[in-house]
Amino acid sequence: MKALVLAGGKGSRLLPITHTAPKQLVPVANKPVLFYGIESLVAAGITDIGIIVGYTADEIREAVGDGSTFGADVTYIQQGKPLGLAHAVLVARDYLGDDDFVMYLGDNFIVGGIEKLVEGFREERPDADLMLTRVEDPRAFGVAELDDDGRVVRIEEKPAHPVSDLAVAGVFLFTPVVHEAVRAIEPSARGELEITDAVQWLIEQGRKVRSTLITGYWKDTGNVSDMLEVNRSVLEGLEPCIDGKVDADSEIIGRVRVERGASVSGSRIVGPVVIGAGTSVTNSYVGPSTSVAENCVISGSEVEFSIILEGASIEGVGRIEASLIGRQSQVTHAGRTPRAHRFVVGDHSKVQITP
Ligand code: G1P
Repeated sequence: MKALVLAGGKGSRLLPITHTAPKQLVPVANKPVLFYGIESLVAAGITDIGIIVGYTADEIREAVGDGSTFGADVTYIQQGKPLGLAHAVLVARDYLGDDDFVMYLGDNFIVGGIEKLVEGFREERPDADLMLTRVEDPRAFGVAELDDDGRVVRIEEKPAHPVSDLAVAGVFLFTPVVHEAVRAIEPSARGELEITDAVQWLIEQGRKVRSTLITGYWKDTGNVSDMLEVNRSVLEGLEPCIDGKVDADSEIIGRVRVERGASVSGSRIVGPVVIGAGTSVTNSYVGPSTSVAENCVISGSEVEFSIILEGASIEGVGRIEASLIGRQSQVTHAGRTPRAHRFVVGDHSKVQITP
């Protein structure tokens, strides 16, 4: 069995972060989202992994390499344009050969792994097995309708009037018959070859399509609030560990990881929080559900429920909440400027001010 991991795509809902980095590499608890996916494939015994890359191919290759650090053998497959999930299967035809495979969306986050799902598929070997999860508003997803035996009888992409609350999450298992399906379908209204249309085609051909309902945590990390929520959830399970320096004037409460080479002085850190290597926190408060990456500076400020990426500095700015701060960004006090905000804000940035 092989895996096909999708790491192309634009990441438009995570702009401006995705101007300079693929969405799959945005870190959750200081580790790229994509790495969690690769790790869970390897944990399920799948080590032949094809990664679909698009215009961010170089960054993905640099981060994942040949896969050996994960115990995997990674092959990169270039997708010219992001023309849909089913298009990715078309592009990967030669790599996948006649093997069964797991398709894993590289920006999806699943707590609890996929071992059970893979095991169930291996035992029964349906033509397709979809991971489903109940969501409040299914209109942004593929939506499945099941019969009494749990077989999928219909699947529809982003329906205006969903027939159920069962959303298609980011993991699919297929036998090679799916290659016929992806060749048979036409682009959808958004101009993409939808994997859900390919699955619907299989259903119409009388093929066996089953589903596995996951009760664990699942999120598509496509936007900032989901990203923060995933970060919060992963930090809940953080192993506390103080490898960096914490001075006597600081207070560490709850699950906190201070990585090697990081320093905390005159500050209060209330976990779950991770402070990355080489970061310094002085005279500040860092509150629950915050990940601070490597080589950041936080001084004279308060940060809570946020993700701070590598090399950012936050100095003398009072309180920051629910924020995603990009690499090498500087959020600082405006000095002598009286009661005014000063910005150099990149394209597609979002700034919210409380006057
Ligand atoms: C894709 C699939 C959709 C699925 C979703 C899960 O949507 O087309 O069926 O529910 O992933 O994240 P997209 O993210 O391309 O809008």
